[in-house]
Amino acid sequence: MRNMNNSLRPVGIVGAGKYVPERILTNQDLEKMVDTSDEWIVSRTGIKERHIAAPEEATSDLAYHAAVQALEAAGMSGSDLDLIIVATVTPDMFFPSTACLLQDRLGAKKAAAFDLSAACSGFVYGLATAVNFLQTGMYNNALVIGADCLSRITDYSDRNTCVLFGDGAGAVVLGEVPEGRGFQAFDLGAEGAGGAHLYLEGGGSRVPASLESIEAKKHAIFMNGREVFKFAVRVMGSATERVLEKAGAAKGDVDLFIPHQANIRIIHSAMERLELPPEKVVVNVDKYANTSAASVPLALIEALEEGRIHEGDTILMVGFGGGLTWGASVLKW
Ligand code: ACO
Repeated sequence: MRNMNNSLRPVGIVGAGKYVPERILTNQDLEKMVDTSDEWIVSRTGIKERHIAAPEEATSDLAYHAAVQALEAAGMSGSDLDLIIVATVTPDMFFPSTACLLQDRLGAKKAAAFDLSAACSGFVYGLATAVNFLQTGMYNNALVIGADCLSRITDYSDRNTCVLFGDGAGAVVLGEVPEGRGFQAFDLGAEGAGGAHLYLEGGGSRVPASLESIEAKKHAIFMNGREVFKFAVRVMGSATERVLEKAGAAKGDVDLFIPHQANIRIIHSAMERLELPPEKVVVNVDKYANTSAASVPLALIEALEEGRIHEGDTILMVGFGGGLTWGASVLKW
């Protein structure tokens, strides 16, 4: 909805919540499962442990707990919601969407609901989508969730991938904020040509589930780590520079940088390029590993809980992942 100055309605975060499953899988536990070591995992990735969903927990359960917290923080209930977007690559099932399962559980009777698939960039893609609905006035509020249960699609006999992933969910409620605050710019993108570096082949319409597909381990993540690493370093630099420019901001204006938590070495390379000191960067990859769509919101919400975010701060978020995709955003808190 345009205001009197004919600019778009300012939209920001009015409530946030997170959830990680109780069970912790440490590097020492993984040493007993595959040929790896705590030293290798910490030095190559920065990961020390990750949270793994209980057998009876699925993505919508993680998302639900995060959503309840976010709604409470916003002083709202499910019935107030206009829109629910769940970014995930591990939905409970193909359909109904995880967003529809949540809509029912939250009693969000008037909300439109859909899932969004952009892997680890999903949360930022989801924010951009919801912000557009809100800025134009089509909806007044939205619940955007990044939630994934990567443990369900991880082959725990493949040391190349099983040390890297964890489960979790982060949720935000978006709504109108004072003029000058809220989301300033987005930079979303994709390089479909790199899709073959990171994928899950089985269970879709190309390779439906069969005994053969299970035996060939086609229901687990395949990743060419080196190629994804190179892509990540490249786009973390280019996307952050572009989104800052779109927002009319400079590197020096960034108060807090919230990168996708996949690998500490990728985060360090982005910090160098953006010339950011450690106190301006959120890192929790050591505790949660790569939680895919949940990674950026988990880091954002943890920073909030730790009192690291203040009114008027300029926050730079960036995600990258399967697709290949990236998404960056500048947010004035
Ligand atoms: N323990 C011990 N050794 C290992 C392990 C392990 N867990 N995993 C791999 N190795 C070995 C490899 O076999 C290889 O051995 P070789 O040289 O004898 O073949 C050696 O370690 C080095 O392998 P590299 O691939 O060169 O290791 P690298 O330093 O690149 O680190 C890693 C690998 C951590 C996967 C890194 O490439 C990376 O982080 N890539 C990016 C992943 C990512 O960010 N994904 C995000 C998207 S995920 C999503 O969207 C769901």
